[in-house]
Amino acid sequence: LLREGANRYGAREFAIVGGDVSATPVWISFSTVPLGAYSEGNGTEARNGATVLMAIVTDLTDRKRAEATRRRLLERLISAEDEERRRIARELHDETGQSLTALVVGLRTIADLAVTTDVRSVAQRLEELAAQSVDNVGRLARGLHPRELDEWGLATAATRYVGGFSRSLGIAVDFRLEGLDSRRLSPLVETSMYRVLQEALTNVARHARAKNIVVGLKRDGATIELLVQDDGVGFDVSRVLDGAPGLGLHSMHERITLLGGSVQIESRPGHGTMVRARIPAGITAPSPRRTQSRPRRQRTR
Ligand SMILES: Nc1ncnc2c1ncn2[C@@H]1O[C@H](COP(=O)(O)OP(=O)(O)OP(=O)(O)O)[C@@H](O)[C@H]1O
Ligand SMILES: [Mg+2]
Repeated sequence: LLREGANRYGAREFAIVGGDVSATPVWISFSTVPLGAYSEGNGTEARNGATVLMAIVTDLTDRKRAEATRRRLLERLISAEDEERRRIARELHDETGQSLTALVVGLRTIADLAVTTDVRSVAQRLEELAAQSVDNVGRLARGLHPRELDEWGLATAATRYVGGFSRSLGIAVDFRLEGLDSRRLSPLVETSMYRVLQEALTNVARHARAKNIVVGLKRDGATIELLVQDDGVGFDVSRVLDGAPGLGLHSMHERITLLGGSVQIESRPGHGTMVRARIPAGITAPSPRRTQSRPRRQRTR
């Protein structure tokens, strides 16, 4: 092993297995030291060309355990954040949204029944204000966690998000959807990809000053891939990732690597930005809740 290691690997991870104890992960770094090279004083000649094979073995058990704990904590943190966003979105929609809608209806009734024009115009103004608040609360709830992600899945939620983004920014987005059918992906995969899409497009809106945006979402065998590309101002990726206080790109990376995927960010000042995230699809059986083959519900507002 030593001889082969010195010839073929500089350093590699191994597992030492022995008896009935579980395998011990170790890092072994191999090197070849010319025998006598230093004892002769001139530091150049090895006596008879003889060499010593040297291996430095580092026990990785503690490091692996710490890594596993970090992964578990991160996983819990991400699921807790997703769950909290889902809960607040539901509450905003079901409680606040419904109360405000009742207020709109009540103010309309007052405006209709008002005997003086003063009362009517005040009631109409308040009705308008309440109707705007209904819209704002709805937008806030959708931003936190869109219902269609749970009900219809990633493809539909992403299509709606991209549509809304394009309308609010006034820029056409070239949206390419490929290979995603009505089969549902695991909820963690769907939510994570949706968050990456939100973050990447929010970054385009906030930083890029782009004229053209391409969004691609496709299933390629057992992998889901999301691509967000813009032709905006671009940035220096390594400088930004090493030093920027922003959390978006870092948490995108953490989330996706936790699911066994990868994120590739390519950008150069003046040459636009490309974000590509790939994760194992984790396809589940067709959802027992609602699948895309069911007729779409009419949106109520
Ligand atoms: N599409 C883009 N075009 C140009 N610059 C970008 C783009 N995406 C990211 N950047 C640059 O990378 C930096 C880091 O992005 P990141 O999303 O991590 O943080 P942020 O958007 O500044 O803050 P937040 O934590 O709210 O996401 C941004 O501040 C911006 O300078
Ligand atoms: Mg950001």
